Amino acid sequence: MDGLSELRAKYLGDIGAAADGDALETVRLAALGKKGEISLKMRELGKMSPEERQTAGPALNALKDEIDAALRARKAALEDAALDARLAAEWLDVTLPPRPRPRGTVHPVSQVMEEMAAIFADMGFAVAEGPQVETDWHNFDALNIAPEHPARQEHDTFFMHRDAGDNRPPHVLRTHTSPVQIRAMQAQGAPIRVIAPGRVYRMDMDQTHTPMFHQIEGLAIDRDITMANLKWVLEEFFTAYFGRPVRTRFRASHFPFTEPSAEVDIQCSWQGGVLRVGEGDDWLEVLGSGMVHPHVLRSAGIDPDQWQGFAFGMGIDRMAMLKYGIPDLRAFFESDLRWLRHYGFGALDAPSLHAG
Ligand code: PHE
Repeated sequence: MDGLSELRAKYLGDIGAAADGDALETVRLAALGKKGEISLKMRELGKMSPEERQTAGPALNALKDEIDAALRARKAALEDAALDARLAAEWLDVTLPPRPRPRGTVHPVSQVMEEMAAIFADMGFAVAEGPQVETDWHNFDALNIAPEHPARQEHDTFFMHRDAGDNRPPHVLRTHTSPVQIRAMQAQGAPIRVIAPGRVYRMDMDQTHTPMFHQIEGLAIDRDITMANLKWVLEEFFTAYFGRPVRTRFRASHFPFTEPSAEVDIQCSWQGGVLRVGEGDDWLEVLGSGMVHPHVLRSAGIDPDQWQGFAFGMGIDRMAMLKYGIPDLRAFFESDLRWLRHYGFGALDAPSLHAG
């Protein structure tokens, strides 16, 4: 058959010269497409004599195969080259430092509340909650603080507004977490074992006081709970919280809602102006406690002849200062970003019994 070697030279040349996939496809169509030159030649075979066909057929087939193979090879080479070009253009320096992302921190008070809840949970205490705007009854009367009782004045209470002529006692910003004792006992009855961490408010502002601060209440009521259980729970708590054995000292005290009542100190040392918990011969007062007064049980609907137990209330903020060496209480609530970044915790600093 005539002209095969010219066709071969032409198409192999065109294939080699095709600069991209589109150009290569144009060459393929020109050669092997339905109306391509090679395909037309194939059709001519039909018009040939058997003798002619015997030599022309294999030659044409061989040429078709060769061009087909050349097309494939060129296609693969172009794809490789394109990939190489992309890899060269799109490289990424994975050793570069990441872009800084703004990150929040967990406030030490939140962190410490979580730590405390984890420790008490281990001793079987559930978390109870109550409102920060509290009724006068829950905050005072139910806790055996009568209207004329001096404790009402001592608490420096914030009162909510009442319309003129509305003579109901105004709601208050709760002055302690003790009203949650009442709510929890009303809701669950006895036996009960709860803690109640949260915000409390008193009209007080100086170096060591802020008008809003945090307390954690503890309450355990059962048939035979005594002060001995209270002492064990507290020592167990302080030891877990500070990560070392901490001795406690109970001093007789008075609260209207507990009888007997005790203030509890923890062992500490003051050396070179540094306060250390769990060593030394000094004492630091950290909480109020006692056996829940029968009047309190009764106002929460629990029979004091059947049930008894202890309650305690502890300031959280100072416990955070003590554990994490934070010097100034007021800075806790100033929302200074530098302070928050310095003393704050990462979201993944999961509180655990063994942290710190
Ligand atoms: N509510 C008391 C206070 O705020 C603390 C306390 C709680 C004392 C429970 C005894 C029992 O000072």
